[in-house]
This record gives sequence, structure tokens and C-alpha cells, in this order.
Amino acid sequence: MFRDITRDDVYRIETQRLWLRWPKLTDAPAIANALADRRISDMTSRIPHPYPDEHAEAFIYSTRESNHNGTALGLVITPKQKPNSVIGAISLTSVEDNPKNLVIGYWIAATQWEKGFGSEAAISMVQTGFSLSKAEIIDATVKPENTASKRILAKIGFQEVGRESRFAPARQREEVIDCFRITRVDWRNGGAWSGFGAAA
Ligand SMILES: CC(C)(COP(=O)(O)OP(=O)(O)OC[C@H]1O[C@@H](n2cnc3c(N)ncnc32)[C@H](O)[C@@H]1OP(=O)(O)O)[C@@H](O)C(=O)NCCC(=O)NCCS
Repeated sequence: MFRDITRDDVYRIETQRLWLRWPKLTDAPAIANALADRRISDMTSRIPHPYPDEHAEAFIYSTRESNHNGTALGLVITPKQKPNSVIGAISLTSVEDNPKNLVIGYWIAATQWEKGFGSEAAISMVQTGFSLSKAEIIDATVKPENTASKRILAKIGFQEVGRESRFAPARQREEVIDCFRITRVDWRNGGAWSGFGAAA
């Protein structure tokens, strides 16, 4: 799905205040520490609570493998000034039976919330997805009560396309989620860029 450039672990994205880079093994303690916070796992479908330390290492290995084979792009988020201090993670994953679709997911450590980092990382990742893959659609799923994530998606130009019940592996149960989508056409037409930073 992704071009060769993202399949090498020197690949990174620079934003105004952040680096988005491949995860490495030394990031495991920071990831485990951030994901111990239930406010993060509750809003995602795959992060279990409690979060065992060894899950962070498994996450790093599997992310690097998917990056290498081009089926996904999974990056950790660090401040530009502290490239070894992980404050979040973000991914674009291809969908097996829908080769033109990607799914975006992200989290920011709770100590760093409401500083605009989630928005900054997500906009650059959507830009990357449409620039460096052939994806026509990027999807996101959000818990109905997740106002912060919905705000990020709306600013980028995602449209809400429905509400569903989906299986959440982390909790082994069906959960209600709101589905959001942005198409390459919407992106190209400038919805995302003109909407970002404005009152969406
Ligand atoms: C969602 C998440 C990534 C947002 O990260 P963040 O760095 O705080 O996001 P930003 O600072 O860019 O804020 C985005 C918007 O949400 C708003 N916001 C942030 N936290 C909020 C909260 N708790 N309640 C309501 N709005 C909130 C911000 O004010 C901002 O709105 P604005 O652009 O109109 O000012 C972070 O809260 C998180 O990791 N949550 C748990 C995991 C998760 O929800 N992942 C996404 C799954 S779909």
C-alpha cells in the first residue's frame, strides 16, 4: 500500500513541533507508561487495560514489520526538541478486503493533551496517506463520547458517515462507534486544508 520511502526506518515526518518516526525498542517504557492510563485504552478498540509492559515491545515489533512490508504506516510522536521522548502514536493501516481504504488511529499521552499535538499529528498523517499511498479513502472510528477525537477529524475534513456496533478486541465485546471518512477527492478539493485551524 505504501511507497518504498516509508518502508525504511529512517523515514520520518516533520511537523511544526513534532517528529513522527518509526518506533524503536527503547520507546517501550514510555509507551507502556502512557498506555497505563485508562482514559486512552477506553477510547480505543485494541489497547487493553491494564496494559502489560511486554505489550509495548510486541506493538513495536509488529508496527515495524507492517511498516517494512508496506501494509501500514505506524509512527510514534515525539516533540521536535526531544526526539527520544514518545508522547503518542499514530497509524494508517490498510484494510484487507478494501485495498483502496486506510484506517487512521492515534493516541496522545494524557500529560500532553490539549496542546494541539493530536491535531498536528493527524493532519500530517492524512496528508502522508494521500501522498504516499494509492488510498482513495481514509476511515476512522470514534466512541460517541470522544469529543476531542471528533473535533480533530472534523477539522481535517472527515465527514460522519454512520453509527455501528463493532467488536472491540481489547474488551472482547461489541461497542457502539461513530464512523468518519475522508476521500481523496475531498482532500484534493481543499476541504481538509481550508478547514484546518478554522471553526469547523
Ligand atoms: C483524542 C486525542 C488524541 C486528542 O489529543 P490532543 O493532543 O489533546 O488533541 P488537540 O490538543 O489537538 O485537541 C483537539 C481538539 O479537541 C479539543 N479537546 C481536547 N481534549 C478535549 C476534551 N477532553 N474534551 C473536549 N474537547 C477536547 C481541543 O480543544 C481541540 O479543539 P479545538 O481545535 O477546537 O481547539 C487524545 O485525547 C487521546 O489520545 N485520547 C485517547 C485516545 C483516543 O481517543 N484516540 C483516538 C481514537 S479515535
